Amino acid sequence: EKHNFVTIADLSKEKIMYLLEMAQEFEKHPNRELLKGKVVATLFFEPSTRTQLSFQTAANRLGARVIGFSDAKTSSTTKGETLKDTILMVSNYADVITMRHFIEGAAQYASEVAPVPIVNAGDGAHMHPSQCLLDLYSIFKTQGTLENLNIYLVGDLKYGRTVHSLITAMRHFNPTFHFIAPKELAMPEEYKLYCKEHNIKYVEHEDFNEDVIAGADILYMTRVQKERFSDLMEYERVKNVYILKRDMLCKAKENMKIMHPLPRVNEIAYDVDDDPHAYYIQQAQNGLYAREAIFCHCLGITLEDVKNDKSIIE
Ligand code: CP
Repeated sequence: EKHNFVTIADLSKEKIMYLLEMAQEFEKHPNRELLKGKVVATLFFEPSTRTQLSFQTAANRLGARVIGFSDAKTSSTTKGETLKDTILMVSNYADVITMRHFIEGAAQYASEVAPVPIVNAGDGAHMHPSQCLLDLYSIFKTQGTLENLNIYLVGDLKYGRTVHSLITAMRHFNPTFHFIAPKELAMPEEYKLYCKEHNIKYVEHEDFNEDVIAGADILYMTRVQKERFSDLMEYERVKNVYILKRDMLCKAKENMKIMHPLPRVNEIAYDVDDDPHAYYIQQAQNGLYAREAIFCHCLGITLEDVKNDKSIIE
């Protein structure tokens, strides 16, 4: 059986907790030879810093070798090669393919044609499941639980694939979501319907101030995604609507953490960075451990294998 990692919706509560436990093992000991002899491909048809480099680091730290491209303009895509042909070719070289693509559903399609496992590193405005796993890991690590939390999602909730993935995964854990977005970038109806169908509580706020933030366990900021707008005037209108400033944290719960998938543009003021609530840099670091767990999941390495692993390099 082939283990893809294409959507977070496929994962049961038990499987999520299992992968988080595996990530915990990798945080204790990230350097191992569990993937020695394997080749991992990273195909990025859209720009990336964190996702690409942390997947490559995860593969390297587990002893695999990495091939791929970070700019599709240097690949034969520019000559008209189809996604199917690219995926079939690379399947002959690599044991697992990690891919980011601008088309929603591209990773699902690739998983249907590829003989090797596919890892979705983001497909358009649709899903970003590896980001979701590292977000869950970050929430679990800082809050001690995933259950019964108040999670505030701020910014671009229309195009933000990370918030769509987080809602999908959190359905197992009885959250209350709070949506704060300009009306042009409001949470799409399909995700509100998803919440209703899965008994996920949600509240919509117009204001973004210290009194609203006071209720948060997690304040999840997002960037307004310029690259998704066909009308740049509309981007200019909405890009600065919600900016987190340090003085807005004065009533925040002591253990509230500010998360952001990054990159940020200006939605979090830079003087927030050394506030104890700021967690986005550590969040990105957690991506390494989550992505080591994802490669193991795809390549048939179990939690038991990781716990009994004798290949740790100190
Ligand atoms: N969070 C995230 O996906 O960042 P990159 O676009 O830099 O990979």
